[in-house]
Amino acid sequence: WITFIINFATGLKCRSLWIFSCAELIAVCSYRLQSVDRSGSWSDSPSNYTMRQTMMSSHAGSREGLLKYRLNKKEKEYVDIKNFRFFIGTWNVNGQSPDSSLEPWLCSDPDPPDVYALGFQELDLSTEAFFYMDSSKEQLWVDAVERSLHHKARYIRIRIIRLVGMMLVVYVNKEHKHHIREVASESVGTGLMNKMGNKGGVAVRFVFHNTSFCFVNSHLAAHVDDYERRNQDYKDICARMSFHLLEYPPLRIVKHDVVIWLGDLNYRLCLPDAGEVKRLIAEKELRRLQEYDQLNIQRKTKCAFTDFMEGEINFCPTYKYDAKSDRWDSSGKCRVPAWCDRILWRGSNVKQLHYRSHMELKTSDHKPVSSLFSIGMVIEQCYKKVFEEIVRDMDRMENDFLPSLSLTQREFTFENVKFRQLQRQSFLITNDGQVACTFAFIPKLNDSQYCKPWLRAEPSEGVLDPNEAMEIFLEVYVSKDSVTLLNSGEDKIEDILVLHLDRGKDYFITVAGKYLPSCFGTSLETLCRMKKPILNTELNIDKPLKIPKEVWLLVNHLYTKACQQEDLFQTPGLQDDLQSIIDCLDTSIPESIPGSNHSVAEALLIFLEALPEPVLCYELYQRCLECSHDSRLCKQLVSQLPRAHRNVFRYLMAFLRELLKHSIDNNLNANLLATLFASLLIRPPPNLAGKQMQHDRQKANDFILGFLMGGDED
Ligand SMILES: *[C@@H]1O[C@H](CO)[C@@H](O)[C@H](O)[C@H]1NC(C)=O
Ligand SMILES: *[C@@H]1O[C@H](CO)[C@@H](O)[C@H](O)[C@H]1NC(C)=O
Ligand SMILES: *[C@@H]1O[C@H](CO)[C@@H](O)[C@H](O)[C@H]1NC(C)=O
Ligand SMILES: *[C@@H]1O[C@H](CO)[C@@H](O)[C@H](O)[C@H]1NC(C)=O
Repeated sequence: WITFIINFATGLKCRSLWIFSCAELIAVCSYRLQSVDRSGSWSDSPSNYTMRQTMMSSHAGSREGLLKYRLNKKEKEYVDIKNFRFFIGTWNVNGQSPDSSLEPWLCSDPDPPDVYALGFQELDLSTEAFFYMDSSKEQLWVDAVERSLHHKARYIRIRIIRLVGMMLVVYVNKEHKHHIREVASESVGTGLMNKMGNKGGVAVRFVFHNTSFCFVNSHLAAHVDDYERRNQDYKDICARMSFHLLEYPPLRIVKHDVVIWLGDLNYRLCLPDAGEVKRLIAEKELRRLQEYDQLNIQRKTKCAFTDFMEGEINFCPTYKYDAKSDRWDSSGKCRVPAWCDRILWRGSNVKQLHYRSHMELKTSDHKPVSSLFSIGMVIEQCYKKVFEEIVRDMDRMENDFLPSLSLTQREFTFENVKFRQLQRQSFLITNDGQVACTFAFIPKLNDSQYCKPWLRAEPSEGVLDPNEAMEIFLEVYVSKDSVTLLNSGEDKIEDILVLHLDRGKDYFITVAGKYLPSCFGTSLETLCRMKKPILNTELNIDKPLKIPKEVWLLVNHLYTKACQQEDLFQTPGLQDDLQSIIDCLDTSIPESIPGSNHSVAEALLIFLEALPEPVLCYELYQRCLECSHDSRLCKQLVSQLPRAHRNVFRYLMAFLRELLKHSIDNNLNANLLATLFASLLIRPPPNLAGKQMQHDRQKANDFILGFLMGGDED
């Protein structure tokens, strides 16, 4: 029977105490990153950069840095995304008028360039041009140029500028015209008194897509030995050339992304012997000759054009020829051939495709020179696109890597919640994020439990993989531990559950409902003042009942009907019976109680267990143990119990003594009944619960045993 008692008590406990094991959490971090660089520095390896880690650790602060990082990383996608072909030409025409097609110069490639920038020098050597700035030659040459631009494209002239003999004209393929803006042109004369325009430079600048360009066409000082004067001209042009655009402060040449400098720079070879030079040219010893090139020397010694680049010259010197021929100057002066006509550049993403002269054109004593560049440019549209893509990507990733759940329901109502009657609802949670998420119901502020004692979520924690779903059950079960506060209205079926995601948000789940009070869990005093069932009554009895009618109904039923029941109080009742008995007692005063004898017996035990104050009041617990050896003291102590408690105690003892008279049939004995009822009637106060020693338990049993063995005078 001891086994039975233990089983019984354990069973009771399990049903009422909600001991649920804390499921061991698999602390699988949802991030399946193999390598995480905790230093926070970016790794160059795309497979190893620490984006997610950074996003996790310092969310807001890293965003900007991350954006920059990714922009840089993707730079290639917007810079250089488009290459444009720039044809740059320079020709000192020696005051001549065009006398042949310029196609051999301007149309020398199969594909049309996107931009033409053509510089002329000595366009007009007339005094009118010099003094009045007028030139009859300008239109002639422009017409000749426009007749010879590449036939496979249509061009529009975006600017032309001329200073005396220096002219610069810029064309772009018509299809780019909307991408050209902020066009400006300027000229700087470096002639006499820094005013006269026979020497100096003219320039055109503009912005093409997102890149600013400046083309400078210059004609620098002449004479073999005057290279310092040429250096000076170069510096003067750099210093004095500035563009005036409304929205900007004066803009200098060097402020442009790409500068292309062309013209008759007039640098010579510092070799005096024309014959020697011509021999080397004939022997194709161009490289050797170039060692004597003044411009190369000036550049090397950083006296001029310091940060400009020039491609390798594979063409013969372009100066000086006899007019209308390919013969070197045969005049008396017998000029030493030189690479006077040059094209240099500075800026990034500039690639020279060709650098050549055009011997076919014999109009002048110079040969025209051209350079074809491929220039990679930032396309604004594309930069924006990449930028937006990155931002969109980052937003997406940020969202993606936030654990996220979707819940099928967040509000739950439980109607007619009753003592010991389990109600259950469920909802589905689905991981709708990109990463596994660890969830748990967590206590609210100041709370130690995640929910009220009558509520439970099952499972209350777990891990969900992406797209995985799980059913969560919400169970409401009012046990002896929660019934009293609900009966009295101090607690209500109202709670808010916080479903917390690790590193993610919280979801709030509200639980509401209506509780139906029960006589179970209601104090004996209160029940004594209820003449009618608890659900139909008010506390308005003038003369309280001697004992609660519920106690009487249960005990009387057993006394009259079940004294001979085999194994009474040793066989569990049925859950459905128990529910009917509780319902019946809460709603009516029945003629007869439903259910089996065993169920009624268990209902009595449950009633006693659920009493907020045990029959032997907490206050007297210690004294009860102390006097348990002395039946006289025990009776004295009982007489000090409050009236309802005293009556119930005596009533129960009388009933148990009666049962013992039928022990042959019901297999009961005094020890068994004492042990069973002592655990219900004599309970340690809550502050001592769990500390009850075995000998205390024995003393409590002895206390009851005394009443079962002895007679009762009452
Ligand atoms: C990733 O970065 C860490 C630290 O920067 C480095 O030690 C590791 O070798 C890198 N791994 C790969 C695969 O590049
Ligand atoms: C593109 O132009 C905008 C202004 O129009 C400027 O802020 C930005 O720096 C430019 N980007 C590049 C790469 O030049
Ligand atoms: C939590 O407890 C503190 C101090 O015990 C109290 O000041 C505060 O109001 C409580 N907060 C809530 C929400 O009950
Ligand atoms: C209850 O016990 C009595 C014997 O005391 C028996 O006659 C009766 O059938 C039992 N009632 C039920 C419902 O089992």
